[in-house]
Amino acid sequence: MKLSKLYRNIGLASLALMGISCGEGDPNSPGIEYMPDMYRSPSIEVYVDYENPSVSSVRVPVAGTIVFTSDEANEMYNYPYPYADSFEDYERAGLEVTSPIPMTEETVEEGKVIYGNFCLHCHGKSGQGDGGVPSNSEYPPPPAYDGNNLKNLPEGKMFHTITYGKGMMGSHASQLSKKDRWTVIQYVKYLQNGGKMVADVSNEASVEE
Ligand code: HEC
Repeated sequence: MKLSKLYRNIGLASLALMGISCGEGDPNSPGIEYMPDMYRSPSIEVYVDYENPSVSSVRVPVAGTIVFTSDEANEMYNYPYPYADSFEDYERAGLEVTSPIPMTEETVEEGKVIYGNFCLHCHGKSGQGDGGVPSNSEYPPPPAYDGNNLKNLPEGKMFHTITYGKGMMGSHASQLSKKDRWTVIQYVKYLQNGGKMVADVSNEASVEE
């Protein structure tokens, strides 16, 4: 075979190959996959039950599992809240649930920050129910914290309401951890008490505005 003919044949063969590999097929097709495992690794996902003991990774914890923490001070916040979203349990919470957080100037200050972010727009700066949302809409305003309806509202009911919501107020359980809920309650109690520390109503201890 002449050399020029050989070159021509090689040229034609390459063109034919290019034709195969660059053919106008489905534009979304990935083409021929030589080692599909490398494109689509058979990865094992976490929290999936493959019903096959040899194919498993982190499993979903059994119902009722309590998250472990070695931080004893905050361990109780991992316990489940054992009250259901019902009127009976709301009443029970009012009698049985008490705050694990003491009312100190510090916790009131922390609660005030949470209040400013999550509650003020409805309940108003001093808890009178005159926040921007009810003031600028048809929605009925929330009752004042220090009014006849809420002045003696137990903290357990507050926690229950913040957890599950009540009437026009939605649940805040997904935005606020249990610790945050108890912390903001310190500030609600402070407002409920007319802007004074509850433990020491006699002297006019108050948190700076
Ligand atoms: C969308 C407006 C809105 C937001 C935001 C909101 N509330 Fe309320 N809240 C209401 C309304 C309305 C009521 C009256 C509910 C009822 O009794 O029907 C209420 C009631 C309450 C009560 C009385 C609960 C009871 O058991 O009677 C407390 C305490 C309270 N809110 C605290 C909070 C705190 C703390 C936040 C922020 C974490 C908050 N709210 C955020 C609208 C709101």
